[in-house]
Amino acid sequence: MSAPMINLSGRVALVSGGTRGIGQATARELAACGATVTLSGRDAERAKSCAAAIADATSGEVEGIELDVTDFAATGRAISAAVRTHGRLDIFVASAGIMVTAPLGAITSDQVRDTLETNVVGVIAGVQAAGRAMMRRRAGAIVVVASIVGRDGAAGQVAYSASKAAAAAAAVSAAKELGRFGIRVNAVAPGVIDTELIAGLPSEARDRYANDSLLGRLGTAADVARAIRFLVSDDAAFITGQVLAVDGGLVL
Ligand code: NAI
Repeated sequence: MSAPMINLSGRVALVSGGTRGIGQATARELAACGATVTLSGRDAERAKSCAAAIADATSGEVEGIELDVTDFAATGRAISAAVRTHGRLDIFVASAGIMVTAPLGAITSDQVRDTLETNVVGVIAGVQAAGRAMMRRRAGAIVVVASIVGRDGAAGQVAYSASKAAAAAAAVSAAKELGRFGIRVNAVAPGVIDTELIAGLPSEARDRYANDSLLGRLGTAADVARAIRFLVSDDAAFITGQVLAVDGGLVL
């Protein structure tokens, strides 16, 4: 890995959903830039082994913790515990999320509730706890991973798109509350990113999304992680309350 332009040495970061996909790539990018990173996942062993692999690859300080973000109180406790361990929190990235694909006529109330629990309740729980921790030092940067479908909608994703619109709106509202404490809150809205989340997508649909992108390809987790890395860095010191599309110019 070439020497990073962005220096996050001395910063403490926490990434939810950090054992896979965009969260994992973000944890790796932040560690490579010198941040001390805690990544969380639902499976403690997986979180620990993933953290160890990133620490090896980046020579960074990375730990893995267990956290199911649908448990509001546990999310607060886990973030507080990580803050106690490292003495501060500078960066929080809410990447944990699920995608349910089901047509409007068939989606069940459990599918709707599960989607909202993870993608909205889980995000707000994390942003609340991170915001509280950052307030003490009157500084910090938070990024919520939303989705382009939160703006554009998508057939078969009525609950998912609603949850992502809510997550982006929560980020903007949090930015309005936390700005006076020196805390920036932004969202990224990825397009179609080649992670396990879209593993069920038929190959024709993958090709169509790649062709519909102005850049002629699907995104990678690293594409999104680098945008997040920018947003949490001092290079973005005057950027808050924004929802940044990272979609290769995906057109409707
Ligand atoms: P992924 O499925 O590889 O990663 C999602 C991670 O969230 C997994 O590690 C999963 O275990 C974790 N997670 C799910 N529910 C959780 C819970 N209750 N508590 C803790 N962790 C939980 O997928 P990917 O693509 O990395 O997704 C990351 C975020 O990006 C998600 O919020 C997703 O909605 C969003 N996104 C992804 C896009 C894509 O095309 N892959 C497009 C737009 C947004």
